[in-house]
Amino acid sequence: MTLADTLTNQEKLAGLQLEELEQLVGLVAYDDTSDPFPVTGWDAVVWAVGNATQTAHFFQSAFGMELVAYSGPETGNRDHHAYVLRSGGVRFVIKGGVAPESEIIAHHARHGDGVIDIALEVPDVDRCIDHARAQGATVLEEPHDVTDEHGTVRVAAIATYGETRHTLVDRKSYDGPYLPGYVARTSTLKKREGAPKRLFQALDHVVGNVELGNMDAWVDFYGRVMGFTNMAEFIGDDIATDYSALMSKVVANGNHRVKFPLNEPAIAKKKSQIDEYLEFYQGPGAQHLALATNDILATVDALRDNGIEFLDTPDSYYEDPELRARIGEVRVPIEELQKRGILVDRDEDGYLLQIFTKPIGDRPTVFFELIERHGSLGFGKGNFKALFEAIEREQERRGNF
Ligand SMILES: [Fe+2]
Repeated sequence: MTLADTLTNQEKLAGLQLEELEQLVGLVAYDDTSDPFPVTGWDAVVWAVGNATQTAHFFQSAFGMELVAYSGPETGNRDHHAYVLRSGGVRFVIKGGVAPESEIIAHHARHGDGVIDIALEVPDVDRCIDHARAQGATVLEEPHDVTDEHGTVRVAAIATYGETRHTLVDRKSYDGPYLPGYVARTSTLKKREGAPKRLFQALDHVVGNVELGNMDAWVDFYGRVMGFTNMAEFIGDDIATDYSALMSKVVANGNHRVKFPLNEPAIAKKKSQIDEYLEFYQGPGAQHLALATNDILATVDALRDNGIEFLDTPDSYYEDPELRARIGEVRVPIEELQKRGILVDRDEDGYLLQIFTKPIGDRPTVFFELIERHGSLGFGKGNFKALFEAIEREQERRGNF
């Protein structure tokens, strides 16, 4: 499979070029002949929320996504509403229960708004499932065909951490708007005059939070069951200060399009942010989704105008001489980043710009990252320590540390 073959229909439809994707998400060529579980790329991120009708509106009005398909009572689905939204190569499916006995409602009661399925596009569903089963994975849905007037999709699903699943989709014989059962639907929301065409182009990574002591087991799962490999930023040490301790390792599929950092809490003086997630999500789950943009400044400005709130970055982060030396030259003056609270991380391959939103739901669980890569294939580990150390230096200056 050449790199060009990995462009999904959705990406082609969005007019994304291979070179653009290479820069956006750090795509690499690889030999898939010995890959036991070849993955083309992301298919969809499926959410269960308390009110899909309003959440779908939120992703359109605040995140600039486009409504492309729908399933619900009017289309014969009496269980739930499902809205399919798109931005560039990213597809979200927002589900909310209608029937009181809907499993979506029960899921939402346990976890709050969250990701229930990180669906992946694969060229051969059966081959993946055979391998996964042989490696002891839990097969939640056996491979089967689903057909409508647009063609046939072959799907199956395996379990991953918590109540999260990976649906595997082969859609090469299908040209409908999403999956059989869904009808095409467009947004009734009018974009503001001069609004950018889209605010992000691709999904870069999805982070999973797992319990203390389980990170290595899930790294092993992705390696053994799904043929994922450890990425360069495969760090085993504690990446934070006493204030937000966590451990993180990163696995990726062969072409690096699908990247899964896996976090577990680390013992520290204060409660780990991962523990807080696990408590409020009632178990492991998807913590953040990194959305790749080629203009993070414009994206952040637009999101802020749309009411999205980001984590604050202290001025000391930008004014600290050690940090400035580490950051070096980037494509815009540091002051432009400081104005917006955008962070920079640099490694031997280049740099990246990133910023994190506050949690988007009622529980302190799932949130977004915006990321603009310039060569760096990292995840901003330098920022974690740097950001918190900058805060500590400030505290020290005030005599409070
Ligand atoms: Fe991230």
